[in-house]
Amino acid sequence: MAEKKIIIGNWKMNLGIDKSVALAKELHRLLNRPSVAPEVETVICPSFLALYSVGKVIEGSRLLLGVQDIFWHDSGPYTGEISASSVAALGCRVAIVGHSERRVYLNENDAMANQKVQAALVAGLIPILCVGETYDQRRDGLTDMILATQVIEGLKGLTMKLGQRIIIAYEPVWVIGSGRAIEPAEALHAAQVIRQALIDLFPLDVVRNQTRVIYGGSVDENNIKQFTGMTEIHGALVGASSLVPEKFAGIVRNC
Ligand code: PGA
Repeated sequence: MAEKKIIIGNWKMNLGIDKSVALAKELHRLLNRPSVAPEVETVICPSFLALYSVGKVIEGSRLLLGVQDIFWHDSGPYTGEISASSVAALGCRVAIVGHSERRVYLNENDAMANQKVQAALVAGLIPILCVGETYDQRRDGLTDMILATQVIEGLKGLTMKLGQRIIIAYEPVWVIGSGRAIEPAEALHAAQVIRQALIDLFPLDVVRNQTRVIYGGSVDENNIKQFTGMTEIHGALVGASSLVPEKFAGIVRNC
């Protein structure tokens, strides 16, 4: 895969339309310059409600539009759900899938994540499959097993076509939103476990060229390089720091 790093801002349910547009404008001002980290793919994921308006602000810029979730069916009687093709039509390029907050609060599981990854690929989106262990699982020494299971169950049965890409975000659940990132060595180990699971699933050239592993969990402009400085980690999924324009721009610059 291209050596480009990818930084994805997940705005979660934090901003209404007006504040989302204001943040997008500020990021556009800070980041849409050829001199600012041109080799970094930069994605922002507003709420569904703000997708259209934010899409208009960043249209034609180096900022890419992403979505925080999708449903696996393309249309039909699925009250409240949003299809991958409909967000792709709005200009989205990336879809977060299986985020731990959805796993915890909405009982999403690996089988659902699997269907969402498939739907994203069919719609031409890059799925960001989130995996990660809880505090208790880590304490019990289950981290590697949880990561391998979530990757294998989340991606099994997929055949990757040429040009399709999948990104796995390693996000230790106990770190998200805590303000304290994990030791880089621990993230590196997790990235290696994830890569091994990918190798179990796909031919080596597909793993090399069409998959990437990124880190997420209390990333900021000061600690980002500790993670992306390692060749195994190709970027970051950023929550809280993506809501502060200078911090997010700093992450893009420093990654
Ligand atoms: P955080 O969130 O950066 O606020 O820890 C990360 C995420 O949920 O993707």
